[in-house]
Amino acid sequence: MNKHNFWRTLLAAGVLGASGLVMGHGDVTPQAVDIKGLEPLGEEWLDENPYRKPSDNYDLAVKIGDSAYNQNCARCHGLEAISGGIAPDLRMLEPDLDGDEWFKERVINGAVRDGAVYMPRMADYLSQEALWAIRTYIESRRDLMEE
Ligand code: HEC
Repeated sequence: MNKHNFWRTLLAAGVLGASGLVMGHGDVTPQAVDIKGLEPLGEEWLDENPYRKPSDNYDLAVKIGDSAYNQNCARCHGLEAISGGIAPDLRMLEPDLDGDEWFKERVINGAVRDGAVYMPRMADYLSQEALWAIRTYIESRRDLMEE
């Protein structure tokens, strides 16, 4: 069973619902993210993370992404991107463009099934710049996974 099926099975079994994770739509308290210094990207979503190495923005993106992730994603996906089991471990996302596609799909569309919000549409609350910074941070955590 691949990891996506694994999470679907868990969700279908109501495990997440039972833990109180399922929220009514709009029940999110997003924390503002200061993206000062990052190259502005405009409204249209890019397909690939523009802040990845060798971008000049890489170091700043990791720093902004660290704080933005820990304020907006960690309560479900785990502090420092280490999943505690209630939502997927984001360090397991594919690196580079492959992982970018799935990341973008999820942050824009969230995970909503039968009216239940398992993951809110985070792009409704956070800018593209903030979300690619989070992606950059997550990938920097992936590099530490072997430890
Ligand atoms: C309310 C809890 C919650 C919050 C907050 C949340 N997520 Fe999620 N996320 C989930 C759940 C649950 C899934 C699994 C959904 C599924 O499999 O259908 C998920 C799936 C994902 C996936 C796909 C992972 C995979 O392996 O398939 C990505 C990428 C993701 N989230 C990114 C984020 C980012 C980035 C943030 C913060 C900006 C965030 N999420 C905030 C609950 C959350």
